[in-house]
Amino acid sequence: MKALVLAGGTGSRLRPITHTSAKQLVPVANKPVLFYVLEAIADAGITDVGIVVGDTADEIRTAVDGAGFDGLRITYLPQHAPLGLAHAVRVARDFLGDDDFVMYLGDNFVVGGITALVEEFRARRPDAQILLTRVPDPTAFGVAELDEAGQVVGLAEKPAEPKSDLALVGVYLFTPAIHEAVAATTPSGRGELEITDAIQWLIDRRRDVRSTTVSGYWKDTGNVGDMLEVNRTVLESVEPMVAGDVDAATEIVGRVRIAPGATVRGSRIVGPAVIGSGVEVIGSYVGPFTSISDGCRIEDSEIEFSIVLPGSSISGVRRIEASLIGRNVEVTPAPRAPAAHRLILGDHSKVQISS
Ligand code: G1P
Repeated sequence: MKALVLAGGTGSRLRPITHTSAKQLVPVANKPVLFYVLEAIADAGITDVGIVVGDTADEIRTAVDGAGFDGLRITYLPQHAPLGLAHAVRVARDFLGDDDFVMYLGDNFVVGGITALVEEFRARRPDAQILLTRVPDPTAFGVAELDEAGQVVGLAEKPAEPKSDLALVGVYLFTPAIHEAVAATTPSGRGELEITDAIQWLIDRRRDVRSTTVSGYWKDTGNVGDMLEVNRTVLESVEPMVAGDVDAATEIVGRVRIAPGATVRGSRIVGPAVIGSGVEVIGSYVGPFTSISDGCRIEDSEIEFSIVLPGSSISGVRRIEASLIGRNVEVTPAPRAPAAHRLILGDHSKVQISS
């Protein structure tokens, strides 16, 4: 059995972060979402992994190769444009050969891994097995309709009027039967080849499509709110460890992980929180559910329920919350009572200013 990980896509809902970097590399508890995916695949006993990459191919490659997933044999599969999940399966046709495979969307976060699911699939080998979960707003997802016996009778991609609240989770298990279905798929309204349509093609031909409804934790980390929620969940079970240089004037409360090479002076850190290596926290408050990536500097500031990517500095600002801050960002206070705001913002930025 092989794994196909999708790490292309444009990440439009995470702009402006994804103008310059891949959405699958946004960190959760200081580790890229994609790494949790690769670990779950390795834990399930799968070693042959194809990663479909797009515009951010170089960045994905550098990050994954640099992390050294020793047990995995990784093949990068370039997709020239984000033309849909079924298109990605077409791109991977030669890599997949006639093997069964799990397709895992690189921005999906499944707590508890996929080992049990892979074992269930291996034992029964239906043509396709999908994962469903109840969501409050099904219109943002692929949606399944089940009959009284729990059999999938229909799937629709982001329907305006969903037939249920059961969303398709971004983990799918397939036998090679999917290739014929994918070959028969035509572009959807949004111009993509939808895997949802390919699975519907199998259902229409009375092929064996099974579903498992999961009530455990799952998030498509496509937007900032979801990203912060996943970060919150993962931080709740982080192993506390203080390896950095922390002075006596600093107070550490609760689950806090401070990497070797971090420096903390005269600050209050209230967990769950993680602080990466090379980070300097000086005279600041870092509150619950916050991840500060490697090489950041937080000085004379307050921050909580936020994710800060590597190399950023926050100085003299209180207070920051529910924020996702990109790489090498500088946040400084505006002069008091400014006559005007001076802004240099990337396309699609969202900014709140008190005035
Ligand atoms: C894709 C699938 C959708 C599924 C979702 C899960 O959506 O098309 O059916 O529910 O992933 O994350 P997309 O991320 O392309 O909007």
